[in-house]
Amino acid sequence: MLVRRCAVLFVEPREDLDVDWAALFAGQGAIAATMQWVALAPHLGEEVVVDAGELAALGAIGHTLWQERTACEARFGADIIARLLQAGLLLSDATEGAVPRERDETLRAQHWRPLSAAIHMFSRWGDMRVDKGMQFPSFEELVDNYGTPPGPTVTRRDDGQSIALPQPERARLDETLYQRYTGRNFDPAAVLPLATASRLLQRAFGSQGEREMAPDAYVLKKLSPSAGGLHPTEVYILAQRIEGLAPGLYHYQPVRHALEPLAAMTGAETAALALRMVADQDWFVPAPMLVILVARVERNFWKYRNHAKAYRALLLDAGHLSQTFYLLATEAGMPAFVTAAVNEIDIERALGLDPLKDMVVAVGGCGLASGAQETVEMRYQP
Ligand SMILES: Cc1cc2nc3c(=O)[nH]c(=O)nc-3n(C[C@H](O)[C@H](O)[C@H](O)COP(=O)(O)O)c2cc1C
Repeated sequence: MLVRRCAVLFVEPREDLDVDWAALFAGQGAIAATMQWVALAPHLGEEVVVDAGELAALGAIGHTLWQERTACEARFGADIIARLLQAGLLLSDATEGAVPRERDETLRAQHWRPLSAAIHMFSRWGDMRVDKGMQFPSFEELVDNYGTPPGPTVTRRDDGQSIALPQPERARLDETLYQRYTGRNFDPAAVLPLATASRLLQRAFGSQGEREMAPDAYVLKKLSPSAGGLHPTEVYILAQRIEGLAPGLYHYQPVRHALEPLAAMTGAETAALALRMVADQDWFVPAPMLVILVARVERNFWKYRNHAKAYRALLLDAGHLSQTFYLLATEAGMPAFVTAAVNEIDIERALGLDPLKDMVVAVGGCGLASGAQETVEMRYQP
């Protein structure tokens, strides 16, 4: 049997603090610190605790060339090699090792920058809720815990040398820009007209033209910028109340300007999925249309392979799309929202996506405002 190490592996010397009850009762220091090596291998997506012997083997067995298992066993011990194979940190050419080996091959095939793969795979949430672990503290709680925040901005010249600029003229975009705000009080009964949904999807995410840059190498023109012109962001829709559209999940096909049905649902099911997607932020759930922004990494990494900036570009791309979506919703008389506090793992499951290939970046949505102010919003006040 041949073995090699997984392609990408970071190991964190993690310190965990706990109350040392025995020491506390003996009148000594009450906090105990334990150290352990935590292996972060993106193809697994789950942390693996390793010991010093396993760490030494991982540091010595390369990820490129396959070598005889027996030779590794002779060097590091059969137990260590067996444990690392079992954990999927070492890979084998044997049938029983197919699952981690194939996940590793999928990772290799995307051309991920190793650090980017690690941050992506280990910053995903599954089943996270608002009330779990203080993920959504209020400003008051933050100030109580951390003191006042750093000031809203900085001044770099305080010596009278700054150059005052003239006040800007009013212009056409202003009306939309000033009306834009993040909605958190959507009308739970309002139905989004199909024509409005269609315009938002086409202008925010649709293709305005296709261009062949080289033989069989196409790019789309969209109304937001995208790194390398590659537009790797795919958009999925959770339709709750869109005129003439059955509730459920759809993929938006930007060239054909069409919705591809993926899963039909009841209204209760879309609401439950919406709540789960946005980690229990129930203020977003009544929005009639939710949009899920998913970066197809192989599209960007085809050009920016193993590139230090590629991951950042994927996040920026989604941000631009989101702002265009906000402005279109505003123009149509509706607030919009975007959130990065999403349960990527639940969304991947619902959409049948592989996180090594398809990176859930954000969830947005829009709908008519209810007029109530149950959850705080920040509208422009002249
Ligand atoms: C990347 C990003 C993540 C956000 N995440 C959340 C969120 O998790 N929950 C939420 O209620 N709002 C979220 N928002 C909305 C911001 O809170 C909002 O933009 C900010 O308070 C300013 O208000 P405005 O958009 O109305 O001007 C997010 C915005 C951005 C750009």
